[in-house]
Amino acid sequence: MCGIVGYNGAFDAKEILLKGLEKLEYRGYDSAGIAVHNEEGVTVFKEKGRIADLRKAVDEDVEAAIGIGHTRWATHGVPNRLNAHPHTSASGRFTLVHNGVIENYHLLQKAYLKGIPMQSDTDTEVIVQLVDLFSREGLSTVEAFRKTLSLLHGSYALALLDNEDSETIYVAKNKSPLLVGVGETFNVVASDAMAMLQVTDQFIELHDKEVVIVRKDRVQITTLDGRVIERAPYTAELDMSDIEKGTYPHYMLKEMDEQPTVVRKIIQAYENEAGELTIDADIEQALTEADRLYIIAAGTSYHAGLIGKQYFEKMAGIPVEVHISSEFGYNMPLLSKKPLFIFISQSGETADSRQVLVKIKEMGHKALTVTNVQGSTLSRESDYTLLLHAGPEIAVASTKAYVAQIAVLAVAAYVTGKAAGKAIDFDLKTELAIAANAIQTVIDSKDVMEQIAEDYLKIARNAFFIGRNVDFCVALEGALKLKEISYIQAEGFAGGELKHGTIALIEDGTPVFALVTQEAVALNIRGNVKEVVARGANACIIAMEGMEEEGDRLVIPNVHPLLTPLVSVVPLQLISYYAALHRRCDVDKPRNLAKSVTVE
Ligand code: G6P
Repeated sequence: MCGIVGYNGAFDAKEILLKGLEKLEYRGYDSAGIAVHNEEGVTVFKEKGRIADLRKAVDEDVEAAIGIGHTRWATHGVPNRLNAHPHTSASGRFTLVHNGVIENYHLLQKAYLKGIPMQSDTDTEVIVQLVDLFSREGLSTVEAFRKTLSLLHGSYALALLDNEDSETIYVAKNKSPLLVGVGETFNVVASDAMAMLQVTDQFIELHDKEVVIVRKDRVQITTLDGRVIERAPYTAELDMSDIEKGTYPHYMLKEMDEQPTVVRKIIQAYENEAGELTIDADIEQALTEADRLYIIAAGTSYHAGLIGKQYFEKMAGIPVEVHISSEFGYNMPLLSKKPLFIFISQSGETADSRQVLVKIKEMGHKALTVTNVQGSTLSRESDYTLLLHAGPEIAVASTKAYVAQIAVLAVAAYVTGKAAGKAIDFDLKTELAIAANAIQTVIDSKDVMEQIAEDYLKIARNAFFIGRNVDFCVALEGALKLKEISYIQAEGFAGGELKHGTIALIEDGTPVFALVTQEAVALNIRGNVKEVVARGANACIIAMEGMEEEGDRLVIPNVHPLLTPLVSVVPLQLISYYAALHRRCDVDKPRNLAKSVTVE
């Protein structure tokens, strides 16, 4: 994780770096720092906590036209000021920010840096000390940087300042994201275009193991062995309004509100001129030719994958396995003869998923990535991509991306099923449009969800979410949302499973949220609710119109049975949001989490 920025140009770097870091806080926010370079040399400011804390620590009077910055999600070393980036070499000459993990840092330290006192517990410091060592041995800075890079095993996005050269930022990446942004009188560096949209919308993509020299009037990209590479900038298709909260108190609320629009955008993005849903012919072919699909994902995306499995099996008749990416790569099941891998990842950067992608590509298999970020690592390294069109998701807890993942998986399964001549007796486009309206109806009754959060969760220690069939998959996501942002211990269960052990935890007043949207199992789940109520649970039933009974707490509009997850998740997201607010939690930046987890 972690976010990196760099600025080299005509204006005061400090403010641009701080603003950039604010936009990258979704990548980590336990400590932060900047280093600026002016006639007095390089000055470092760093602080534990958020960018707001760093701001207070930065000397307002310092002016410099070049600098680098970092917001951290700790991996090596606890989050404190000492371990915060930038890190400076022992001689004071080099200063570095790093996103990623250097796997062999201990070995490098032993082999090259004996006797050099380390100031932090980070893997990063080894990099900056190596650059210093090689430069003291007589190499130029770029040579020392290259030699250091050639020794590193692991992932990195790096920006380096040299105290003896106030004109250059040295940049490199491997597996971690990093872009260079170009302007008329300046150039910038950022983990994500969002950070530098404030000054430019022109960005150059960097490839792994390239070495980049960023001056204010020039960007030079070279391979690790020094070959110059020409690459034209592209225009980022983002605008500031996509990444600002506007009048919303939290990004999460804004993003939940955007969900009906996201579903409508997906319909538009995937319809052809004749108004029919479609996906690229080569993706359709890869899906129809596969004898089994392997969905690989983490967190919320994994939960969307569970629903995708039902879609591909029911609409396209293709067997599907869904796997947690961090498990799959190291304990691979027996694969079918013609597998197709589907990676679901909002960010397209999740390291756990990427390690699987690398392995299955080495085995010669094909991969399709379903992602929100065009040009992300998973997208670039896969054979095919389906985009979510959800717009940037900034709140750490994923909401609109989950809904978009389900909608896009539905489109892909539907189109594949149709192409394979399966009997599908409904028009998905119409049903998605109905679902978009239904989501809006739920969103319009936020006050109900606020009251439910107050009634059920204000003093709760724990909570359970139950459902059967797709409702079970949504129950898992509902529980994840609640724990992520309110820190209430929450678990999702298949309705019938609770009684096989976990029911022991039900006490007087334990909140149990039950979803009733599937006709075939409605009576069964209601039976499961009775079991927990008989043991004192405070049950909150959310039923779909047509299946409601007296006493149900919320009735959501009726939608196609396969698409109920698009709607039933929304009250659970909102209930979690209000529960977190009631507990005064930081909704957009929950403790210990980061949006994009680029370490395994
Ligand atoms: C992190 C985020 C989760 C997300 C998961 C997978 O843990 O905090 O919200 O679901 O990563 O992310 P991806 O970008 O691959 O969907």
